This record gives sequence, C-alpha cells and structure tokens, in this order.
Amino acid sequence: MEERVKKRSWAEPFKIKMVELVHMTTLEERRAALQEAGYNTFLLKSKDVYIDLLTDSGTSAMSDRQWAGMMVGDEAYAGSENYYHLEEAVRTYYGYKYLVPTHQGRAAEHIISKILVKPGDVIPGNMYFTTTRLHQELAGGTFVDVIIDEAHDPDSEHPFKGDIDLQKLETVIKKYGADKISYVCVATAVNMAGGQPISLTNLKAVRSLTQKYGIRIIHDMTRVAENAYFIKEREPGYGDKSIQEIVKEICSLTDGATMSAKKDALVNIGGFLAINDWEVFEEARNLVVVYEGLHTYGGLAGRDMEAMAIGIAESVNWDHIKARVGQVIYLGNKLLDMGVPIVKPIGSHGVFLNAKKFLPHLKQDAFPAQALAAEIYLDSGVRSMERGIVSAGRNKETGDHYYPKLELVRLTIPRRVYTQAHMDVVAESIEEVYSKREKVQGLKMVYEPKYLRFFQARFEPLG
Ligand code: F0G
Repeated sequence: MEERVKKRSWAEPFKIKMVELVHMTTLEERRAALQEAGYNTFLLKSKDVYIDLLTDSGTSAMSDRQWAGMMVGDEAYAGSENYYHLEEAVRTYYGYKYLVPTHQGRAAEHIISKILVKPGDVIPGNMYFTTTRLHQELAGGTFVDVIIDEAHDPDSEHPFKGDIDLQKLETVIKKYGADKISYVCVATAVNMAGGQPISLTNLKAVRSLTQKYGIRIIHDMTRVAENAYFIKEREPGYGDKSIQEIVKEICSLTDGATMSAKKDALVNIGGFLAINDWEVFEEARNLVVVYEGLHTYGGLAGRDMEAMAIGIAESVNWDHIKARVGQVIYLGNKLLDMGVPIVKPIGSHGVFLNAKKFLPHLKQDAFPAQALAAEIYLDSGVRSMERGIVSAGRNKETGDHYYPKLELVRLTIPRRVYTQAHMDVVAESIEEVYSKREKVQGLKMVYEPKYLRFFQARFEPLG
C-alpha cells in the first residue's frame, strides 16, 4: 500500500483561473530574432519566446489572494498599512527584527554593502552572486569564495553543495584579520552552484566560528524556502519539522538578510533588507531614502508590499514548495534519462546543463554555455540563460576573464507558471540539440558592457 501510494502521480496544488497566450514562432523567425539579439537570450523580445526559462525572478504567477491584496494597496507616501503587514510577515516567518523594503534584492545589497563594507575589506561567502559581488566590490571590498570544493564539481552528488568549508573560512579570517571581514555572506539555495542547499549543521558551525571572531552573518535569503525543502528531505532530524520552522531556524542563525522577493516570495517586483542590529537598521533606514524612497515603501507601491506579505506566507506552505521543487526535479530526471549532462543533485529553481560536457569541442573562451543557450532557443523557442564565463565577468585587478569551473546553461522554472507538458517539450528540445551537439559552433564577444556584462553583451558565431 505504502509503495503504491508513493508511485501515484502528483499535480500542481492550484487551479488555473486566467491564462496568458503564448506566441509560437517558426525556425526562420527565431533565427532572425537571435541575430538581432546578438546571440544573447537577455536581448530577445519576450514575444519571440515560447517557453521562458530565462529566470525565476519576478516571473511567478501570483495567487488570487495576492491579487486581492493588490486591491487593498494603501498608497500613502508615509506609514502605509501594507508596510506594517510586510513587517509583520517578515517577523513572523523569518524572525528578523527590522525591515527596510527595497524595490528588489540588489538594492538591499547596495545598502548593506555601503554600510558594512569598507575599502580593503574582504567578504567571504558560499559562492559569488553577480549583483551581490559587484556591490561589495563597488564599496571597495573583495569577495572570497569559501564554499566546499564539491560545489564546483557538477558531478559531485554531495547533498549540501551550498555548505561552507570551515577550514577555508577560518584561513581567510586569520589571513586578513577579523576586523577586515565586513561579514560572511551566506546564501541559501546557492544560485550559481545550481540551486544547491546549505545544511543547518553547517550553518550552525559557521555561526559558532564567526561568533568566536565577532563577525556578522548576512543571509542572501532569496530562495530560503527552497533550501528548507532540501533540509527537510535530506538532513537527519529535520524530516518532521515544517518548512516554516526550518526557514525560521535558518534565519535565527544569521544577523540580517537581503531578499529578492521576486523569487521565493512569489511577487513580480520587491525585496528588502532585514536586520536585527538597531544601529545598522538606523543607517539603512537613512540610506534607503537616498536611493529608493521613504523607509516605509523603499521603491515599492503599497500594493506590492501587500502582495509580498501574502506571498511570504504562501512560500512556506508544504504543498506549494513540494510541487515547486518537484517540477524542477521532474525536468531534471527526464534529462538524466536522456543522458544529457546536468549538474547533480538537481537543484531547487532550475536544471543546469553542464555545457563543458555537452559541448566538449568548445574552449571556454568560445563561450560554450552562451552558444548552447542560443542553440536551444533556435531549436524550439525555449529561452534559457548562460551561467558560466560570461556571467563570471573579469577580474577587476588583472582585467582577465574569470574562468569559472562551472560553465552552465540554466533552465530556470518560474513558480506556478508552466505545466509538466511544458517540461516535456523543453526536455525533447534539449534532447534534439544534444543529438547534434558536435555541430554547435562557439561564439565571439563583439560588445562588452563594463558591469554585469552578461545582461547586454553581444556575440557573433565563430568561423
Ligand atoms: N541574490 C540571488 C541569489 C539572486 O538569485 C538574485 C537575483 C539576487 C540576489 C538579486 O536580486 O534581481 O531582485 O535584484 N537573481 C536573478 C536570477 C536575477 O535570474 O537569478 P534582484
């Protein structure tokens, strides 16, 4: 009986109330669109995309309750009711004391970097994220990667590839001195590693080590509920805990957080900085007025804050998170069955193709992941994203490309937007491209912006 129940199919825990029609394109139209976009999927027009797996950021479908929340937006310049609802949600579900809303995650990163990072500082973290590292650098700091080595190996099946290597962390602290460490940046569901979780055992150990040296932990909590799902599934002692309890325990081991609510919290725009320390809060509340807006709206409409408060509560619901990560795992398993090289274990917010193995004939400076994302679009109109050498950017000292070990294409799944049938179409397109992989050509970069080049760089086929 147990076995039979386990093998039963599951379905999304929602009904579809409204639909958005998508546009189908021909191969010729896609070829023209790709050329016009300089072989960069960020530069494609959405109307030319069939299934959009560029990002899970701001692309979720809001629930009827969130839409109802939009109707009770209190658009007062100061002291909006919705701000207080959001503050309550952040305290209830995450446990942080003080809230500074921002229009999205990078604005919170900007503010916290301005406050805590001094020129010459070092910020250790479990793998870089593009905007986070740039804000640390712009404030005069240097990011140092202290994630475990397994995170850089796409084939390692380590269950918690987001863990921090305590040895590496302590070496950095001793080398630079605790007063040069702005904070330790701990991300949950590490994006650039493939959506890989950090364990609570590891986070507790990081907490005691940093407490020994009096160093803060700032949490990039963008996908904290997804991380909690893996803790519940994989970490001994947590199987019976709720997602809400696990999320709160994670947050309790940190001093503050930056949040892109466009992911976990199921809104199309929004974010915040949350902090337990009154002095840091005071400074942040002051700075947000300069860059975003008054501290009770931070660049958001009242209605956006209301939708976020409701989305936070929905994000820790078990049926939601199980189906959300379940859909990603469904796609990943299909690709594994087809023999396509992907990052293992399958992560929380997307399936990451291993472009180095997919296209072994291309050198890394021929941008294999960029070329693969372009080829997938050409095949089927499925839009994905490069997460490799283009995203990694250049070393600010030497000006050379960073050559990251991971050269990946991310198929990112928006929350509550696509069905399993869409996932089948995606898998079949990747299988088709895989079958003719040796014909895929590399690219050369013909335009390179100074910051976060992956968003706007342009390419042409080599040869
Ligand atoms: N931190 C992480 C882990 C993220 O994934 C993102 C955004 C941010 C911070 C920045 O937040 O976009 O609201 O300013 N990631 C998106 C992505 C863009 O596609 O992975 P933001």
